[in-house]
Amino acid sequence: MPHVSPYNGPVAVTGASGFIGSHVVATLVGRGYQVRACITDPDNPVKADHLRAMNDDGQPGRVTLHKANLLEEGSYEAPLADCCGLFHVGTAMAYGGANNPQQVYDGAVSGTENVMRSVANAGTIKRVVYTSSFAAIMNPRPPGYVYTEKDWASDNRENDPNWSLENLNDKGETGYAMAKVETERRLYRMAEKDGRYEAVSINPIVVLGPLLGKAHDLVFSWQWFLGRMLRGKDCERGWQHLWNIADVRDVAEAHVLAAESEVPRNGDRYQLCAADESGEIDCRQLQAHLLELFPELDVGGAPEGYDKMIAKHGKVYDAPRAHCDKARKDLGLRTHAIDDTLRETGRTLIDLGLIEPKLK
Ligand SMILES: NC(=O)c1ccc[n+]([C@@H]2O[C@H](COP(=O)([O-])OP(=O)(O)OC[C@H]3O[C@@H](n4cnc5c(N)ncnc54)[C@H](OP(=O)(O)O)[C@@H]3O)[C@@H](O)[C@H]2O)c1
Repeated sequence: MPHVSPYNGPVAVTGASGFIGSHVVATLVGRGYQVRACITDPDNPVKADHLRAMNDDGQPGRVTLHKANLLEEGSYEAPLADCCGLFHVGTAMAYGGANNPQQVYDGAVSGTENVMRSVANAGTIKRVVYTSSFAAIMNPRPPGYVYTEKDWASDNRENDPNWSLENLNDKGETGYAMAKVETERRLYRMAEKDGRYEAVSINPIVVLGPLLGKAHDLVFSWQWFLGRMLRGKDCERGWQHLWNIADVRDVAEAHVLAAESEVPRNGDRYQLCAADESGEIDCRQLQAHLLELFPELDVGGAPEGYDKMIAKHGKVYDAPRAHCDKARKDLGLRTHAIDDTLRETGRTLIDLGLIEPKLK
C-alpha cells in the first residue's frame, strides 16, 4: 500500500501559486487528492484565481487555499494537520531581484525548518517531497561530464573560496546552490531522527512548459528569457553553454510519483533534466526549434559575443549534461518531447497576453 494516496488523507503544497507549485497542485487534483494549496496571499487574484479554477474543471480532486508564510512561525500548523503528504515547493527566490542571495539562503533554510516543525506536530505525514534544484547537484567538472544524483554541488570545492557562507551577497547564485544543499541535508537528517516520515527531493534544471497564470512570467526565469526570444530579442541567458530542459508537467508528475511510489527511501533524490540529448540544446538550436514551431515569428537568437566564443572554443561549453534516467526507472516517469515543451511555453506566454511576439 502506498503511504500517500487520495485515500490516506489530504496533502499540502507550499509555494502552490508558483510556476512549479501550480502544476503540482493540478497534477494532484487530477489524481483525486484533496489539496491544501498554501500561498502567501489568497486574496491576490493573479496568484490565486488559476488555483480556484481547478475546482471547475470536472477533476476528481479538489483544492482549497490556505494563507501561509514560510517566514512566519506556526503558519503551516493548520493546513498540515491530518495531511498524509507534503510537497514543499515554495522558497524565497531571486527572480526580478525580489531577494538577495543571503535572503535566498536564509529563507530556504529557516523557512524549511519552520514548515518541518509543523510536519512533526501533525504526526500524520508519511512523505515530504522537497523541490530542490539541479543547483544542488552541479559541481566543478570537465565539459561533457554527465551528472547523476550521486553528485553534490559541494563536491570538488576544496579550493573554491566562493563556496562559503561569508559575504553571500557578493557571490551571485552560490547562495542558492548552498541553500538547496543545506536544506536537502537538514531535511534527510530531520526525517531520519523523527522516523515517522521520509524526505525525498526533486532536483529540476531548466524548467519550461505551459504557464498556468500571469504570475508565472517571472522576470529572469527561463520562461521569461524564452519569451524575450519570441519578442525578437537575443538569447540573454545560458548562451555560453547548453540549455538542459525539463518540462514543468514532468517535474510536477515526478513530485507526485515520488510521494506515491514505494521505491524511494529517505534521502533519495531525482534530477529532473532532459530525457536524452534532444533536450540538451544551445541557443542556436533553441532558436531553430522556435522558428519551426512559430514560423510566423521573427525569433531572436545568439547574442553578440556568441560568434567570438565559437571562434575561440569551437563550440559552446559542453555542460550541463544530465538525464532523468533515475526518475524514469524508479518512478516510471514518462516525459514530454522537447518540441511540445517549447511550443506550450510559447503558446501560453502569447495566449495569456504576457508577450507581444515579433511577427516576420
Ligand atoms: N523554475 C525552475 O527552472 C527551477 C529549477 C530548479 C528548481 N526550482 C525550484 O522550484 C521551486 C519553485 O520555483 P518556481 O520556479 O516555480 O518559482 P515561483 O513561481 O517563484 O515559485 C516560488 C513560490 O515560493 C513561494 N514563496 C516565496 N517566498 C515565500 C514565503 N516567504 N512563504 C511562502 N511561500 C513563499 C511563492 O509564493 P507566493 O506566490 O505565495 O508568494 C511562489 O509561489 C523553488 O524551490 C525553486 O528553487 C525551480
